[in-house]
Amino acid sequence: MPELRVFLNDLPENDFNTIFRSLPVFYDRLEEEKGLPPWTCFIAGVPGSFDGRLFPRDLLDFVHSSYSVHWLSQVPKGLQGEIGEALNKGHVYMAESSPHAVFKAYLEQFQRDFSLFLKFHSEEMICGGRMVLTLLGRKGDEEPSSGDCCQLWELLA
Ligand SMILES: C[S@@+](CC[C@H](N)C(=O)[O-])C[C@H]1O[C@@H](n2cnc3c(N)ncnc32)[C@H](O)[C@@H]1O
Repeated sequence: MPELRVFLNDLPENDFNTIFRSLPVFYDRLEEEKGLPPWTCFIAGVPGSFDGRLFPRDLLDFVHSSYSVHWLSQVPKGLQGEIGEALNKGHVYMAESSPHAVFKAYLEQFQRDFSLFLKFHSEEMICGGRMVLTLLGRKGDEEPSSGDCCQLWELLA
């Protein structure tokens, strides 16, 4: 049986203690329900932003991120017009009435963030490692504010 090392990442502001406190019960369940012998799985927290490196080179066999990578590193640049006026008036997201420049600003910010995510975290992986990322997206680019991804923000607004 290989020994598994699992690293859980979130921003430093996240309450890691809640997770740490749940680990003894989780280890018991691994043993009872999955038949994993004791001391075969070691879980640790890694506080930090995935917008930068989190691990030394060539460490990770498998990377999984669930519903996190679509969070942008910053408010996109380009949400202001030539004289500093807000282009996305009244919205904190891409809304149906947002001008094209707003969609472009969000797209470019995501492309920058996601490219860096892949660059940084591929360096942390062993050759032949695997990455599974689950993130919000939409089916086509005809209507950038379509219900596929923006409904949530519409409700929040
Ligand atoms: C919607 S929750 C998903 C939580 C969990 N992965 C799941 O699938 O239920 C998004 C998480 O991403 C974290 N997050 C957002 N930006 C991050 C960043 N730059 N680095 C690390 N974690 C980040 C948030 O703190 C939050 O815990």
